[in-house]
Amino acid sequence: MEYDFPCCVLVTGATGLLGTAVMEKLAGLTHPIPVSRGAPPDGLRGDLLEVETWERIRAADWDAAVHCAAIRSPERCEENRDVAYRLNVEAAARMAECAAARNAWMVHISTDYVFDGERPPYGEEDATAPVNFYGETKREAEQEVLSRCRTATVLRIPALYGDPPAPSPLLEEGMAAASAGTECFLDDTIVRYPTHTGDVADVVAFLLRRRFAGFVHASAQRAATRYEWARLIGEIMGWNTSHLRRSIGRPDRLVPRPRDTHLKVDRLRQLGGPVPRDCNERLIETLGKRFADGGTGGPFRKRRP
Ligand SMILES: NC(=O)c1ccc[n+]([C@@H]2O[C@H](COP(=O)([O-])OP(=O)(O)OC[C@H]3O[C@@H](n4cnc5c(N)ncnc54)[C@H](OP(=O)(O)O)[C@@H]3O)[C@@H](O)[C@H]2O)c1
Repeated sequence: MEYDFPCCVLVTGATGLLGTAVMEKLAGLTHPIPVSRGAPPDGLRGDLLEVETWERIRAADWDAAVHCAAIRSPERCEENRDVAYRLNVEAAARMAECAAARNAWMVHISTDYVFDGERPPYGEEDATAPVNFYGETKREAEQEVLSRCRTATVLRIPALYGDPPAPSPLLEEGMAAASAGTECFLDDTIVRYPTHTGDVADVVAFLLRRRFAGFVHASAQRAATRYEWARLIGEIMGWNTSHLRRSIGRPDRLVPRPRDTHLKVDRLRQLGGPVPRDCNERLIETLGKRFADGGTGGPFRKRRP
C-alpha cells in the first residue's frame, strides 16, 4: 500500500553526501526542511548535540523525517567516541521520539557496517556483529530507533559516492589513484558495493510513501575492492592504469573494516522499490556529468593525457 507523500520532510545531515542528494530528490516532491549546523538560513540550522536544536525541531511543522546525520568515518568515531556516541546513537534516539510523538514516518539511515563481513550476503534479519566502534554506534541506533518509533524504516546502505557539491571521498580517492601516474598500491581484499547517493535518495522517497516498518536494505550488487574501483574509474575515463598495483597484505587502515558486507535487496524488490544501479553502469553517468563542462570537474583531467 502506498500513502500520500508527506507535506514537510525534515532532513537531518542535509548538507552531507547523502543528505544533499535526498534534499535534491525531495525538493521535486514535497517541502524538505534541511537540518544541520551548516544548513541554509531558511532551513533549521543547529547542532544536534544541543538541547536548543531539539526544541526547535519539536516546534517545527513537519510530518516525516529522514535522519542522515552521523559521524560516518570509522577513524573519526574512534578518535572521539563520546561525540560519535552522542550523535550516532543519542540523536537518532531523540529523532525517533520526536517522530513517534507526532506519528510521523521516519527513515533512519544505517549501514552495512553493522555486519562483520564474514558470511555475505546479508538479509535484513541476519545477525549483526560490528567490527568497529562506528558499526557499534550504528547498530545501537537501529535498536533505539525501532524501540522508540513504530513508524520507522531503518534503511541500511553500503559505501556511497555522489555528485558535487558534497565531498565524495570514495570517488575522490578512486580518481586520485587512477590518475596518479606513479606506482600506487591499493587494497584488493576488502570488498565494497559502491552505491550512488541519487539511487539511495530514490529509495528514501519510495519508502516515505511505501512506509515499511522495520529493516530494508538498498545496495548496488556489483562488488569492487579499492583496486578494482580505481581500475574501473580509469577504464571509464580512458586513462592508463598500469601504475595501479594490487595489495593483498594487511589493509593500511588503522580501524578494521568488515571484509564483505554484501546486502541482499530481496525485500526492497518485493516492496516494489528501485534497486540501486551497479557502479560500472552508474559511474559512466557520474563521471560523464562531472567532466561534461570540458574538464573543470577536478584536477584529474589535467594530470592525465
Ligand atoms: N558515506 C558512506 O559511504 C555511507 C555508507 C553507509 C552508510 N552511511 C550513512 O549515511 C548517513 C549519511 O552519511 P554521509 O556520508 O552523508 O555523511 P556526511 O557526508 O559526513 O554528512 C554528515 C552530515 O551530518 C551533519 N552533522 C554532523 N554533525 C552534526 C551535528 N553535531 N549536528 C547537526 N548535524 C551534524 C553534517 O552537517 P554539518 O557539518 O553542517 O552539521 C552533515 O550534513 C549516515 O547515517 C551514515 O552512517 C554513509
